Amino acid sequence: MMVYLDNAATSFPKPPRVYEQLRSYLEEYGACPGRGSYEMARQAEALIEQVRQLLAELFSVGDPRRVVLTLNATDALNMAIKGALRPGDHVITTVLEHNSVARPLNRLERKGLIRVTRVGVSREGLVDPEEIRGAVTDRTRLVAVVHGSNAIGSLQPIAAIGPIVRQRGALFLVDASQTAGAVPIHVDECCIDLLAFPGHKALLGPPGTGGLYVGPRAKLSPWREGGTGVFSELPLQPDEFPYALEAGSPNTLGLAGLRESLRFILQYGVEWIRTHELSLTERLLDGLRRQERCRVYGPSALEDRVAVVSLTLDGSRPDEVGGFLHRAHGIAVRTGLHCAPGAHRAIGTFPEGTIRISPGYFTTTAEIDRCLAALEEAAQQPSSEKREEERTLERQGVTGAFAGPPCDQGRSR
Ligand SMILES: Cc1ncc(COP(=O)(O)O)c(C=O)c1O
Repeated sequence: MMVYLDNAATSFPKPPRVYEQLRSYLEEYGACPGRGSYEMARQAEALIEQVRQLLAELFSVGDPRRVVLTLNATDALNMAIKGALRPGDHVITTVLEHNSVARPLNRLERKGLIRVTRVGVSREGLVDPEEIRGAVTDRTRLVAVVHGSNAIGSLQPIAAIGPIVRQRGALFLVDASQTAGAVPIHVDECCIDLLAFPGHKALLGPPGTGGLYVGPRAKLSPWREGGTGVFSELPLQPDEFPYALEAGSPNTLGLAGLRESLRFILQYGVEWIRTHELSLTERLLDGLRRQERCRVYGPSALEDRVAVVSLTLDGSRPDEVGGFLHRAHGIAVRTGLHCAPGAHRAIGTFPEGTIRISPGYFTTTAEIDRCLAALEEAAQQPSSEKREEERTLERQGVTGAFAGPPCDQGRSR
């Protein structure tokens, strides 16, 4: 049986009721919401409003209409960044950001439209809120921070950063891609103006789902414009939420699955899920710390972490180890830069990156133990450089050289 430990990319499997709901949506009420007065369309519309309400409950949002549904976290982050920024603005962000924050900001900066300050992190991958305070200027419109790093698993102190940003009059954008559904988030307590999240990671929904909470202080211009099914007489995108930022036929199928996964999460509670995932993470970290060639990155305190563990094995390339885990043990992990090159520069693992192990809600302790045993075996494999050396010796007639097949996997960057 395969062991899936790549939940930071997308969660697998989903709760069984998600699969059931996808099927019944397609068979029973697969109409376009808000565009018809017949029963199927009304059911689809109700489904979307329920998803909004469940998300509002999850993040303690007062007005569910301020939860805009998107296709993934990238979509939500682009909507927030490009919708909020104006020429001449200053933005503060961190070196840890995923490319879905870094690239839109880099492009605007290269065009000369904005100025960006990237605050660094501690050796453990943590941002100091005081550094953000020190970087704010009169022109700072946006502070964008990744809540949980998908590259090294550090959890940023957003409850301390938010009030600083609010006090200085800027907008606080939190990328909750690794925390929505896995770490409790209260938008008002953390002074969050914009919360971007995927539906397909720890929210346990299908791909093609996500969202952006837009607080009342944030004035965003629309990122995409088009049909809303309501206010069709207006020549421009309506100002009313959520239509101001939602256009086109939504991914109702995906949202049908997301509604079920949100009910599942609310039933168990995010606190419980966090405790469960941290106990898996702790078991993994304890096992890794006992392995001689293993180097683990990120915070030493468990409470400063999400369930993302990045490591390297001295003397082996991450992609080689990933290939070995998959081929020899059927274990799925991610290797490389994880779309966050700045994070790897910060911890010294650029450009090879790391081996990333990300347990999820359905991971078992037996799977963690299997992965630990497989990593121990991987550490005993000769590196490709060593094998090449041995093959050369073998060609030259020196005996005892390793003659196994090359251990390689396409590099994921
Ligand atoms: C921290 C972070 N931000 C943004 C994203 C982009 O998410 P999506 O794939 O939903 O667009 C990811 C995905 O891995 C992520 O980990």
